[in-house]
Amino acid sequence: MTIDILTIFPEFFTEVFDFGIIRRAKLAHIVEINIHDLRDFASDKHRMVDDRPFGGGDGMVLQAQPIFAAIENLIGTCERENYPDGTKVILLSPQGRVFKQSVAKEFADELKHIILICGRYEGVDERVNDALVSEEISIGDYVLSGGEPAAIVLVEAITRLLPNALGSETSAENDSFSDALLDCPHYTRPADFRGMRVPEVLLNGNHAEIEKWRKEKALEKTQKIRKDLLKGVDSE
Ligand code: ADE
Repeated sequence: MTIDILTIFPEFFTEVFDFGIIRRAKLAHIVEINIHDLRDFASDKHRMVDDRPFGGGDGMVLQAQPIFAAIENLIGTCERENYPDGTKVILLSPQGRVFKQSVAKEFADELKHIILICGRYEGVDERVNDALVSEEISIGDYVLSGGEPAAIVLVEAITRLLPNALGSETSAENDSFSDALLDCPHYTRPADFRGMRVPEVLLNGNHAEIEKWRKEKALEKTQKIRKDLLKGVDSE
């Protein structure tokens, strides 16, 4: 999968994708991540990318021109209907569909090329949305100053679901949310830390009992913290 990120703050991404699973996935050519400075696509000599809003108001609005130029440069067209199969242009903004594990899975399964436009809090010229954007995505009901942290969240969540990105196929399946439940608690050595003991069941090697305990704890935790996730879950 190729992920292109369009931003006015390319330095924001320095090193952030150079650790752990993302780093390994890049080295193994499972994912290619490219950061693009929108100023490089500005047509004026001052490399201007934003301007004051028509109609007045606070802040600056990202201009359409550099974003159109960047998309044209990346996929050879600004016609949404001519985007190649498996390509999506995503605008990160608080107005979008809320990003969840199911959305990460959908993108990991169906897409080959994702272009992430990092919007600014004050806004992006609506003609970008009208003409270019396949979908707006929000990472939650709160307002960030820009889409950059959201882009990192998407890259993280999607990359780990790509085939062979994780060491073992089962690790992603056991994650929180992959079966609509929160994850169960985990422990490692020592078995007794400052008098806090690891649950006995995890030490006895009985795998059926361990599985049962994990399922119960996951359900308990979900019940307590995220009851909303339990609708439609078979608790057997
Ligand atoms: N930009 C500003 N707030 C955002 C959010 N909640 N999700 C995605 N992009 C954003």
